Amino acid sequence: AMLDERPKPLAGRRIIVTSGPTHEPIDPVRYIANRSSGKQGHAIAAALARLGADVRLVSGPVTIADPTGVDTLHVETAREMRDAVEKLLPADAAVMVAAVADWRTENSAGEKIKKVAGEGPPALQMVENPDILAGVGHHRKRPWLVVGFAAETQSVVENAKAKLGKKGADIIVANDVSPEGGVMGGDRNRVRIVSKAGIEEWPEMGKDEVAERLAGLIAERLQTIEV
Ligand code: CTP
Ligand code: CA
Repeated sequence: AMLDERPKPLAGRRIIVTSGPTHEPIDPVRYIANRSSGKQGHAIAAALARLGADVRLVSGPVTIADPTGVDTLHVETAREMRDAVEKLLPADAAVMVAAVADWRTENSAGEKIKKVAGEGPPALQMVENPDILAGVGHHRKRPWLVVGFAAETQSVVENAKAKLGKKGADIIVANDVSPEGGVMGGDRNRVRIVSKAGIEEWPEMGKDEVAERLAGLIAERLQTIEV
């Protein structure tokens, strides 16, 4: 095999990444989910590993393969993802890329819900899921660097800025996921890096390149922190 001889600025760094959607069961055969292929999160996990990091990926249900060189845990629901992430703390950095379902049904049915003539559709009682990023951003074992994503279809920068504070994140990677953009499920992405330092606009590029550049940025930020 060819040896990867690039410098390893993230050697000795433990980094948690979340990726993919979560599935929230309605009954044994149905679920609520977000659109997410896991491509961007998995690419970020792989890019961080290539820079030498000890990467722990917590992935929701995806059809893509586990990234090479990355210790991957598979979960289904937001609560399972939250529990997995908490168990992985402490870490030097956390990068929350998962498209976590904001709501779940209060009680999922143990048996398949049947259509009953004349009764109409079931009324699903929804409750809010835990915010995994905010939990990590305000955790007593908070990683040095906390990175989140903001999937927006409008007022992208304003919403991303608001998420910085609300979630206790250092960086929010804002991407416009309006259907015209083709980001969801596609191979390309156009992001803005929102932090206290300001806003950096990156040109449209492949998700792998976004991952590469973000891993570089994370390495740079962690360099200023003692191991
Ligand atoms: N996130 C999370 N847990 C949740 C919801 C979101 O960890 N329950 C994380 C995502 O992984 C992402 C960031 O929070 O890094 C922003 O997710 P997003 O869906 O854009 O924001 P929300 O806070 O859920 O707000 P809204 O969906 O209303 O825009
Ligand atoms: Ca959300």
